[in-house]
Amino acid sequence: MSAARFADPSRILITGADGQIGRALTARLQQDPDFIAIPRTRAQLDITRRTQLEQQLADELPDYVVNCAGFNRVDPAEREPEQAYAINSDAVAQLAEVCAELSIPLLHLSSDYVFDGHYASGYSEDDEPAPLGIFGDSKWQGEEHVRRLQPRHIILRVSWIFSDSGSNFLLRTLEQARHETRILAVDDRRGCPTSADDVARVLVAILKQLANGADAWGTFHYCGAEITTRYGFSEAILAAARQYEALAVHELVPVSSKELPEAAERPASSVLKCKKLLNTFGIRQRPWRSELQRLIRQLYDAVESEQAKGRRVRAGDGDQVAQAE
Ligand SMILES: NC(=O)c1ccc[n+]([C@@H]2O[C@H](COP(=O)([O-])OP(=O)(O)OC[C@H]3O[C@@H](n4cnc5c(N)ncnc54)[C@H](OP(=O)(O)O)[C@@H]3O)[C@@H](O)[C@H]2O)c1
Repeated sequence: MSAARFADPSRILITGADGQIGRALTARLQQDPDFIAIPRTRAQLDITRRTQLEQQLADELPDYVVNCAGFNRVDPAEREPEQAYAINSDAVAQLAEVCAELSIPLLHLSSDYVFDGHYASGYSEDDEPAPLGIFGDSKWQGEEHVRRLQPRHIILRVSWIFSDSGSNFLLRTLEQARHETRILAVDDRRGCPTSADDVARVLVAILKQLANGADAWGTFHYCGAEITTRYGFSEAILAAARQYEALAVHELVPVSSKELPEAAERPASSVLKCKKLLNTFGIRQRPWRSELQRLIRQLYDAVESEQAKGRRVRAGDGDQVAQAE
């Protein structure tokens, strides 16, 4: 027997739709007959602009809003705190307020950086946040606004996001590995890499259950399965990429956080415990290693098909030249 389907597809408005998670979520929703995706990039909907927010949400009246917008640059946040708080906190407050006024549940993404990283075994949803820097503090304040202003919310804290677009550790490591013979990687910071597509899978699973009547609001954690360090993640990235390409790098050097000075202090442990999500929604963690393999294969397939297209175009040009001659 096929699974029960809801009568009408749910309409999901996605803010920050051009970011890593925004893109992955849009792609998944667009393939799912249970949903209609309403993606909004920053250029289409700037969440810091209240009038624009009010008008678009009132016009669209989506069934749910998923806020994938954010100021996510951890070091720049220390230099531009006004920007970080404006987007991650103040704008989230007005988004939550507008959603509440229009009775639209809000799904909001937050971060492992709300914690100080002292619990090596990991953090559950009940642990007390104690952000170390501006980025983490701005995300924590954003969460608090959501809790206060729109009780029908899901706050999903995620960690170490990687994807095939935007700025992320995977793409930066690949870029370095192609041009540098020696790469330094921090080995005293532990966490769980998580693919943006895997987060999108989790959001879709939550949305389906909410649309089917689940009354389970609150804060949840999600990350890929298996704890590693930045060094361990780099090792895995290089091993996966070497299946497809000879890289320039021949030395991966483990270093401590102190040896790689950064503007913002980062939590030593970013590990998120994900039991509540499993117990509430039955959603299991996926191993980040298989997500990484899949993504790397996809990246190289894309390069190969671009090269093949280039060869066809060049061959086509040649034909034209030959004909003209
Ligand atoms: N990346 C991570 O490792 C990580 C870890 C934990 C939690 N998260 C959280 O997950 C969420 C999504 O992360 P992500 O990695 O997908 O981020 P991302 O790739 O940086 O995407 C964020 C998107 O938000 C847009 N944006 C910025 N300011 C905006 C505004 N005022 N109005 C509308 N859109 C705006 C950005 O546009 P521009 O590019 O034009 O600025 C970008 O397209 C964020 O809440 C983030 O804090 C991310």
